[in-house]
Amino acid sequence: SPWRATILTLYPEMFPGPLGLSLSGDALARGDWSLEARNIREHGLGRHRAVDDTPSGGGAGMVLRCDVLAAAIDAATVADDPRPRLLMSPRGRPLRQERVRELAAGPGLLVVCGRFEGVDERVIAGRGLEEVSIGDYVLSGGEIAALTLLDACVRLLPGVMGKAASGEEESFEGGLLEYPHYTRPREWEGRAIPEVLCGGNHGAIARWRRSEAERITAERRPDLLRRPD
Ligand code: ADE
Repeated sequence: SPWRATILTLYPEMFPGPLGLSLSGDALARGDWSLEARNIREHGLGRHRAVDDTPSGGGAGMVLRCDVLAAAIDAATVADDPRPRLLMSPRGRPLRQERVRELAAGPGLLVVCGRFEGVDERVIAGRGLEEVSIGDYVLSGGEIAALTLLDACVRLLPGVMGKAASGEEESFEGGLLEYPHYTRPREWEGRAIPEVLCGGNHGAIARWRRSEAERITAERRPDLLRRPD
């Protein structure tokens, strides 16, 4: 059974969005994964299908109601749904490639996209939502974060990516940033391709690439050298 993603959002029109194109779009069309975007507002209350309310204790903004979101989650899942339930939020655990690998190896995902100032805390615990952040900046909603997370997962599914980029040699998969890439012409605007890449010494090329990857990682992301991943 294909990897199955269910998205709960107030903007289902944002899906599949860019995931309907290119690698992920082709894989979607092949049935290598599936995507279902469901509108939380279908579980809204009253004539206006209200999904949010003012924050208890006062303050600005609106809070997504726990009863509404719980109804949306319950309608989108089965009793023993094996899929992790994520809530996209800047408060969440920072997403890293190791977690992406785990999620891609599983049965799929239920992803809740937050909007407004937040989600009632009780439904996070009550429905076992794991909060995930894609970085230390604030988006206007969880949808673009969910698209990012899905893209990272889908490209790792069996058969989605060609052998060229099957992942292993890429940034983070080896724990290092990527070495520099070049292609023809051999010289361009006074800049030449490093000589070692123009000979056929594959051992020398592999050593050069490794040392460049280490140099660039030390320069730009020294934190990665001290992290197991
Ligand atoms: N929603 C708003 N900002 C976000 C972020 N940085 N990561 C995940 N979800 C978000």
